[in-house]
Amino acid sequence: MLSGPIPRHVAIIMDGNGRWASERRLPRPFGHRAGMKAVREAVEGAIDAGVEVLTLFAFSEENWSRPAPEISALMDLLEEFIAKEVAELKEQGVRVHVLGDRSRLTAGGRAAVERVEHETAGNQKLSLNLCISYSSRAEIARAARLLAEEVLKGTKKLEDIDEEAIRAKLYTASWSDPDLLIRTSGEQRLSNFLLWQLAYAELYITPVLWPDFNRRTLVDAILDYQRRDRRFGKVTAS
Ligand code: IPE
Ligand code: IPE
Ligand code: MG
Repeated sequence: MLSGPIPRHVAIIMDGNGRWASERRLPRPFGHRAGMKAVREAVEGAIDAGVEVLTLFAFSEENWSRPAPEISALMDLLEEFIAKEVAELKEQGVRVHVLGDRSRLTAGGRAAVERVEHETAGNQKLSLNLCISYSSRAEIARAARLLAEEVLKGTKKLEDIDEEAIRAKLYTASWSDPDLLIRTSGEQRLSNFLLWQLAYAELYITPVLWPDFNRRTLVDAILDYQRRDRRFGKVTAS
């Protein structure tokens, strides 16, 4: 069991499904399917470790530019994942939220997302945020638009638009910023994920491809996190 400080909020860029499939000479959707098991590992690992919020990047707005068959395989998997997991998530005390532009999902996808949010709404052990059709720049632009609307309506004053006002309009407004960001598959970039919220997150990049991610990978990331000196721009007291 882990001792020492546990990150309250862990965010993960779940990357490398396509490469996992290519290594096995399989079509890319096989990698996405294998990645579903890793989501379960991440959820159980987070619960075991005492993480309070787990935010997973599942599908970006940019991913809509992928070939249509890959997109439809991913959307089918989303519905399948929810259908298969909703009972267990409920049982385990996991509360699911889906963050992103859900108007771009199919009607079936939207219904599945609403169902899992509704059925897990009373849970408190772990908040699981699935970022689907999500991009951070779009999220920030949306926040700006929502604030501008309030100013136009006269319900907000221009001088009240500060960092806190923007933060409150992000999809993630209910949660504190991620303490730890994990990216699998070795890529060293953020790919338009939580640009605002990751300002002071500790970054952990592992070569493990997402379908091979398991509880141990999460524990390794947390152990690495525990060796970090988080300074937030200040100097460490000596
Ligand atoms: C991550 O795996 C899943 C999604 C982005 C939907 P990729 O599909 O990006 O896999 P690679 O990066 O091509 O290996
Ligand atoms: C980021 O991975 C998006 C998700 C994991 C959902 P990508 O594979 O889309 O990112 P790039 O293209 O390598 O930057
Ligand atoms: Mg990728």
